[in-house]
Amino acid sequence: PVSVEYINKLPKAELHLHIEGSLEPEFMFELAQRNNVKIPYNSVEEVRAAYKFHNLQSFLDIYYAGASVLLKREDFAELLLHYARRAHQDGVVHAEFFFDPQTHTDRGLPFELVFEGLRDGMAIANKELGMTFKIILSFLRHLSEEAAFATLEAAKPFLDRIDGVGLDSSELGNPPEKFARVFAAAKELGLPRVAHAGEEGPPAYIWDSLKLLDVCRVDHGVATSKDPELYEHIIKTQMPLTTCPCSNVSLRVFNDFKDLNVIELLRAGVCVTINSDDPAYFGGYISKNFEVLEAVGMTAEEAAKMAKNSFTASWLDEESKARWS
Ligand code: ADE
Ligand code: ZN
Repeated sequence: PVSVEYINKLPKAELHLHIEGSLEPEFMFELAQRNNVKIPYNSVEEVRAAYKFHNLQSFLDIYYAGASVLLKREDFAELLLHYARRAHQDGVVHAEFFFDPQTHTDRGLPFELVFEGLRDGMAIANKELGMTFKIILSFLRHLSEEAAFATLEAAKPFLDRIDGVGLDSSELGNPPEKFARVFAAAKELGLPRVAHAGEEGPPAYIWDSLKLLDVCRVDHGVATSKDPELYEHIIKTQMPLTTCPCSNVSLRVFNDFKDLNVIELLRAGVCVTINSDDPAYFGGYISKNFEVLEAVGMTAEEAAKMAKNSFTASWLDEESKARWS
């Protein structure tokens, strides 16, 4: 068996983490009181009890509602710092995380407040823990192309400190092609691109993320195994998949941990990485996501391989990659 200590000690990069998804119920409550925001729960236990999801949308509804307690620059700094301290215990030395500016700008918060708050948190975490970060601006795909363009425009003053763009939220019915022009504009600006694809959506959404969005990683991508031609392509090109086991079971992409295809993908030669997605909502930070795979046959060598893959697939420079791999 692979011990928890072994998993925790493996240096890891986390490449699929929504910072808003690291908002723990205790902190949600604290912020609701501090900022005088009403939330539809009377206790931390009630919040946790609400975390029973039957698909992606049932989670997203609660996730966007929860984010309403974040109002001040220091709230975002603390959110980042809480995540960093917790992830550090799990051996995360580097995180490339998403933030969803539209969730906040649509509530009237300035882009700058959100961004500078997260940057404050990153600076403190770097000093305190030595962790490094890349920040990925993620467009909400249930909103319009026009709204995504407006968000890219709002980000322009900060582009020297934004490391890439992503695409998240409700996948079905919001295909990659809806954002092909926004992603082309981001590419023009020199931004690397990733996208959620093949979480609930079909393999065609993965193909189109590759072809129309020109992504360098696929977030989730677990539908790859449904299309033999795509499967072969993903292996041949070593296109990284940022998979999230606890998320997949929480959101019923797979009914049970034993049904996950992560280990199958890895053994077939895919560049698989393990991530926590929204750890406050799905029952665990990164090590937990390795542990649940241990229970379905992952070996110590496979755990080490996936930790190493996280650096290969990261946007770190070659020197930093070599240091951790
Ligand atoms: N936003 C936060 N978590 C997400 C997920 N797993 N899929 C799509 N959008 C998300
Ligand atoms: Zn995600």
